[in-house]
Amino acid sequence: MEGPKPGQKTVLITGPEVMADLAALGMSTLALDVTDTESIKQCHEEVAKLTGGKLDILVNNAGRTHTHPATDILLSDVRQTFETNVFSIMAMVQAFVDQLIAAKGLIINISSLSSVTPYVFGSVYCASKAAVVAYSRTLRMELAPFGVRVMVSMTGTVKSNTAAQPLRALPENSLYIRAKEIFDWRVVFSQNASTFPTEKFARKLVNDSLRPEVPTILRRWFGRPDWFWSGGLANFVWFGTCIGEWLIDAFCWRTFRMGEVTKLLTEDQSQKKLK
Ligand SMILES: NC(=O)c1ccc[n+]([C@@H]2O[C@H](COP(=O)([O-])OP(=O)(O)OC[C@H]3O[C@@H](n4cnc5c(N)ncnc54)[C@H](OP(=O)(O)O)[C@@H]3O)[C@@H](O)[C@H]2O)c1
Repeated sequence: MEGPKPGQKTVLITGPEVMADLAALGMSTLALDVTDTESIKQCHEEVAKLTGGKLDILVNNAGRTHTHPATDILLSDVRQTFETNVFSIMAMVQAFVDQLIAAKGLIINISSLSSVTPYVFGSVYCASKAAVVAYSRTLRMELAPFGVRVMVSMTGTVKSNTAAQPLRALPENSLYIRAKEIFDWRVVFSQNASTFPTEKFARKLVNDSLRPEVPTILRRWFGRPDWFWSGGLANFVWFGTCIGEWLIDAFCWRTFRMGEVTKLLTEDQSQKKLK
């Protein structure tokens, strides 16, 4: 495995298929399980060998979907989602902070529009991505004195392999069993809703993260953004956050077919009463 050329940025991206593509392009790739302390430690050592102890950019991208009504979740499953989506980021930051400080580097944490929207049947996912936002905001301040920047991606819908992840079935005794068709539609929503091509999203993220620094007050418009909004529906949700929660809630009620869900569940309750 060849080390990077002088001045070349090092970005860690996990996942064997993605890594095969990157390796074919001549990049150095390493295996990493972000929920495994030993794997993180090993990766930290190998990166240090490759880069001489400096890491310019750490992208915390690994993530797990979690689509299940809040009343059907299994806590063991929820814990696993928080391990992958939240605790792994904390562990990666702690492990790599020495190399990031040495490079005056940048951390990019991949969050989601769901951190600020009621993504129906995704309460656990929303909670995990909101945790990433809250954590990153504070981390940004704590690392600023060391010259390390923290950027959060408020990711909209983007083409990915997310639908290939193991799906959670709606239990037969679920409160929402009458709305199963809508639940199944919602499971693959991110891949069918103004979804951005992966390359378009990735190109924009790379461009924005490499923009030169400008004074804080101008950064949102002209410089490297601390908040990166991109992907399908991102512009609308960003606008909604400027106007008020009511707009986002009304949009989500309509988008996630809650009128239909309510009708189906009301019919179900009336039928049960008649029996
Ligand atoms: N696609 C969207 O519309 C969308 C919207 C908002 C936010 N996001 C966020 O974008 C990020 C990427 O997701 P995606 O949509 O591209 O889904 P994806 O295609 O399923 O990618 C998820 C990636 O996370 C990796 N991963 C999962 N657990 C891991 C672990 N323990 N250690 C190392 N890597 C692990 C997977 O690697 P393996 O393939 O090896 O399992 C895979 O490369 C996630 O944080 C997701 O929440 C996506």
